[in-house]
This record gives sequence, structure tokens and C-alpha cells, in this order.
Amino acid sequence: MGSFFQDQGVRFKSAKDSTLNLPWIEKYRPKSLNNISAQEDTLITLKNSKDNLPHMLFYGPPGTGKTSTILALARELFGPELMKSRVLELNASHERGIDVIRERVKNYARSFIISDSDRNNQCPGFKIIILDEADSLTKDAQEALRRTMEKYSELTRFCLICNQISCIIPALKSRCTLFRFKSIGIDNMRNRLTYICEQEGIDYYPEAMDELIKDSQGDLRKAISWLNNASKLHKDDRVTVDTIKETVGIVPDDIINGLIESAASKSYDKIQETVNDVIASGYFGKQVIEQVFLKVLQDLRINEDHKCNIGESLGIIDKRLVDGGCELFQVLSLMCAISKNMD
Ligand SMILES: Nc1ncnc2c1ncn2[C@@H]1O[C@H](COP(=O)(O)OP(=O)(O)OP(=O)(O)O)[C@@H](O)[C@H]1O
Ligand SMILES: [Mg+2]
Repeated sequence: MGSFFQDQGVRFKSAKDSTLNLPWIEKYRPKSLNNISAQEDTLITLKNSKDNLPHMLFYGPPGTGKTSTILALARELFGPELMKSRVLELNASHERGIDVIRERVKNYARSFIISDSDRNNQCPGFKIIILDEADSLTKDAQEALRRTMEKYSELTRFCLICNQISCIIPALKSRCTLFRFKSIGIDNMRNRLTYICEQEGIDYYPEAMDELIKDSQGDLRKAISWLNNASKLHKDDRVTVDTIKETVGIVPDDIINGLIESAASKSYDKIQETVNDVIASGYFGKQVIEQVFLKVLQDLRINEDHKCNIGESLGIIDKRLVDGGCELFQVLSLMCAISKNMD
């Protein structure tokens, strides 16, 4: 079946379009603040502070527009031609030590702005340092940063970006205006994804869009990236729920039920054999764990106290996975916890 939007002749890309081959998350990265979805309060405050920006700390879940917002703001302030000289963008997870803060960041922060040609009059008289993923800066590096932020604030404004605000030391938090980025709600998610489908001439079943929105849990980057992949899986067809599930790596229900039944059997050998089979089939441990837990919550054989015990184990398992623990062992660990807590 042809695409609805192609049928309507909404838009076709020319081969010369330089964005043609970009992954969609970059192709559809908002270029201006007006194109950022769902972060109204943040946008209003930023637009009102454009002339004299404070130091900023953006925090919130992944894929909600933090990096896009500061890049769009910088582009609006300086214009594309001055972005290079007025903005230093560092990914703190690669450059997380105190040396980077002492040398690169400090040197840039204290450097004066050299004449900026004809935009000079409209441009604010400061530079911006973006420290993305600032939650991975070491504590020493954060301590060193606070002095630099204070000393050179006339010349340089900082934008720290992180997911976990609890990893930022209080002294830095108190020097910044905090901007909380919310998970993208269902309606905003749908609007943006529908817009991308229109632009790309992608047709889809409404249920497939619902599944995509449900699975991405407010992370627009994930949703766009999955849509991009799903559109390649079924190029000339409508995107279906199954295509989305396959792209996302959703584990089929019968496999999840099989795991839970192995736990109910109370046989360790049976549990281990089932877990081995599931991981050997190539499913992601984290995905398996999330789906098993959701099923457990609906299982009448497990009482409320026991669900709490399983929830506690899940917290530990999640931490181990984040620290690089073996996926097979972590799924096994969850299934053993469930087995012990089943009546
Ligand atoms: N609020 C938003 N409005 C429009 N597009 C968005 C928004 N949030 C995310 N996106 C899309 O997702 C992509 C990634 O967004 P971005 O890099 O800004 O997320 P982030 O919040 O910085 O995530 P992370 O914490 O993982 O770094 C963007 O290129 C854009 O396509
Ligand atoms: Mg980011």
C-alpha cells in the first residue's frame, strides 16, 4: 500500500538535500527554541533571559531535549557563523577529570572575545561553555569548576547538563539556575512523530504509533530512532505493530510467561535452563527484566509483601546492570528472587 502522505503528495526530498542521509535524530534535531516540544516553562524562562543568561543546569531523563535546547539557544544568540568561536561544547563523560577543567575549560572561560565582525552589536558579550553529561565529572573536577564559574562569569556562562542531578555537588547547583526537563508526554510525542512521518512519507497503522509511544516511555530520541529503523524494515509498506516490536526488541509474551512459569516450578535447574535459552535467543537482558517485572505485578500468585521483596531485588539488579554486570546472571538473579517470593 502506498504511503498516505505520498498519496497526498505532501513532500518529497531532493537528492541534493544535505540532510538526506543523516539519522533522523540529527535530521530532526530542533534548530530553534520554537521547535523544542514539551518544555514550555523552561523555554519561557530561557527566552526571557536571553540578554543576560545565568549559569544554567539542565537536568532530566534522556531524550527530552536538553542538548538540543542549549544548542538552539546558542544558535539564536550568536548565529551559525559565530557558534564555533563563542561556544565550547565538552562531553564531560569523555573529559571528566580535573585537568580538563583546570586547563581547557579555564583557558576558554577566561579568554576575551575578539571582535566579531558585523554581528558584534546584536550579539551578547559572553561565551557559553556547555558541559554535557556533567554528572560524570569527578568530584574534584566539580570543585575546581565552581571557582572558574565565579571568577569568569562576566565573560563566560556555563550550561551544565545531566540526567542525575543528585550527582552534582550542592556548590555547583547553587551557582546555577536549574531547568528541569520533563519526559515528553503522549500528545507531544505523537505530534513530533507524526510530523516526521509526514516529512518522510511514512505510512503506519495507528496501533503501531501507539506501540512506539508506549515503548519509548517519554524518550523522544528513542522513539525517533526506532521509527527510523522501523521505516527501513518495511520500506514500501505501512509500519505495523510487529515491526515496531521487532525494532524495539520487545520480547514475545509466551517467552516472558515461560520464564515466570519456570520460577513457579521452584526448580533451579528449570529456571537456569529457561534463562539460558532466552539469553541465547539474543533478547536483551534489560528488556527481559523490565517485561518480567511488569508481568509479575499482575500475577495473583504473588502477594503485596512479596512484590515489595522482588522490587527491592530489582533495584540491586538494575545497579549491577548499569555497572556492567553479566546480563544472563542478572536475569537469573531476578527469576530466583521471583521464585522465592511465589506462593
Ligand atoms: N523536546 C524535544 N523537542 C524536539 N525534539 C526532541 C526533544 N527532545 C528530544 N528530541 C529529539 O531527540 C534527539 C535527542 O535530543 P537531545 O540530544 O536534546 O536529548 P537530551 O535530553 O540531551 O538526552 P540525553 O540526556 O540522553 O543527552 C533530538 O535530536 C531530537 O530529534
Ligand atoms: Mg544530551
